[in-house]
Amino acid sequence: MTRTDPHSYFDDRQPRAHRWHLRLLVDFDSRILGGEATLMFPRPVAGILDLDSKGLAIHRVWVTVSGAKVPFELGPEEPILGRRLRLTLPEATHGVSIAYETSPGAVGLQWLEPAQTEGRRHPFLFSQCQAIHARTLVPCQDSAAARVAYEAEVVVPEGLTAVMSAGPAGDGPGPIPGTRAFQFRMPQPIPSYLLALAVGELESRDLSPRSRVWAEPATVDRAAWEFAGVEAMIAAAERLFGPYDWERFDMLVLPPSFPYGGMENPRMTFLTPTLLAGDRSLVDVVAHELAHSWTGNLVTNATAEHFWLNEGFTVWAERRILEALHGEEAAAAAWAIGQNALAESLERFRDQPELTLLRTRLEGVDPDDAFSSIPYEKGARLVAALEQEAGEGAFLAFLRDYMKRFRFTSITTEQFCAFVEERLPGLLARVDADAWLHRPGMPANAPVFRSARLDRITAMARAWAGGTRPGDDPMGDWNPSELLVFLQNLDRVQSLEDCAWLDRRLGLTARGNYEILAEWLCIAAASAYEPAYPRIREVLARVGRMKYLRPIYAALGRHEATRALAREVFAQASAGYHILARRLIQGVLAKYP
Ligand code: BES
Ligand code: ZN
Repeated sequence: MTRTDPHSYFDDRQPRAHRWHLRLLVDFDSRILGGEATLMFPRPVAGILDLDSKGLAIHRVWVTVSGAKVPFELGPEEPILGRRLRLTLPEATHGVSIAYETSPGAVGLQWLEPAQTEGRRHPFLFSQCQAIHARTLVPCQDSAAARVAYEAEVVVPEGLTAVMSAGPAGDGPGPIPGTRAFQFRMPQPIPSYLLALAVGELESRDLSPRSRVWAEPATVDRAAWEFAGVEAMIAAAERLFGPYDWERFDMLVLPPSFPYGGMENPRMTFLTPTLLAGDRSLVDVVAHELAHSWTGNLVTNATAEHFWLNEGFTVWAERRILEALHGEEAAAAAWAIGQNALAESLERFRDQPELTLLRTRLEGVDPDDAFSSIPYEKGARLVAALEQEAGEGAFLAFLRDYMKRFRFTSITTEQFCAFVEERLPGLLARVDADAWLHRPGMPANAPVFRSARLDRITAMARAWAGGTRPGDDPMGDWNPSELLVFLQNLDRVQSLEDCAWLDRRLGLTARGNYEILAEWLCIAAASAYEPAYPRIREVLARVGRMKYLRPIYAALGRHEATRALAREVFAQASAGYHILARRLIQGVLAKYP
């Protein structure tokens, strides 16, 4: 028996399901998804089949069609893995059906009260399966290595709409009065972490023949305006990476507790509403999730130990799209902002250098705990180093071959390296890939991205500590990314006078761009700048995006004066956070006495 993934009971010598058929009823009262999951095999199989499950109540297992009972056994609860569900399949099994229910505490689902939505009239449900939470929704081989196509029928209360990471295949009255049934089809094989479902009061606006945006009625027009440029992005990405293979690129704007910026669920990217800055300044997250359609959803990591292959490539691809659309200066700013995130993560993992390798070893480590900017930014810099060494044209040609060779598969770092060596012999050695992949921290040959403009802005931020204040001229000229670079290069603790100066001159507390706002609130919190407290409370109470919660809470935790504020706000707000966000902030606050 070979288990290939430290985070899954998936065993590659056992039968491998290639298609799922899901029939699910969404019950907001009990916060339970219940129904049937059928796993289909490409040919008749028999014997032991180990599935992942977490918090699932398994009611019945039978052979599809014949109805013959299938013996099953649930193993003990393991903290990261959950419970192994072992089935013993009889001879010539084409498919196996499992009647089951999820638990109200399923990590992969967040159930929102009407008060947590914009409309405040209907409840909302969304899933977040990456990295290893699909098993809290469906009993399955929950390893990225085991790709599946799927079909689903989802029954929801009348008046609500269901969307999935799949193509819509019709809807009609549900089996129970007062319900509606939505059908979906995802014909292409995807890793289980890309299974996605959301249910709420939703409307959509068409943005192009192949793209529309979904959101709550009160948000949908703002979302349509913010993301109006999506078709130009898809076209730019196609020019770089080849045809878009997923037919549609639809997006869903979630309620503010969504714990990430975006999630590349195929055919239905999930996005945080904090992207709706009102000036299209945060659409790089859309470029990122779109880029995953190639670097990720088409070719992804076999396990979380190779996460950099997924995210590092995607950050690099996102910045190539950005550069194609908005020029080199815009891309340089994105790299600079990424550099700051990278430095922060390297510092945070100072005592866990093993998590700063690109090729990680995560046996016994929860992928959510290993999450950081390192696979993203160190990974993207390795890709950029390979590109610079190979030459742009040669590298893009290589990339297209790579995606042709591995499309719809999930691969390891070792497979990637073997392919590079085959196509571009000697390249890995020339960039010292070994150091990038297997040694902690940043290699000395890491590419640097600079521009004269950014150098000037960074210099002004450094000069700030010496008392030099930028004049109105340069500041008025900065775009949002440049302002962010400036703020990131300031010391975290500022005098109250300096805080007031910055706030007045740059209108920071009132900003609608959450990247700038969050950066500023970290400075304000660390500096105990009271005029910003109401805004800090408001943001922490409303927004559940972990990228913002972590540093703001950490900044508040640093000083006694603000620590009480952190605890008070957390006590009020945490019930509305996603469970992962709640755990994360509990961890942050636990560091302080
Ligand atoms: N796939 C990730 C989000 C993710 C990673 C969720 C790991 C769960 C586990 C997504 O593509 C992503 O990276 N989102 C970023 C935005 C991006 C511009 C770096 C985010 O959420 O901030
Ligand atoms: Zn990503």
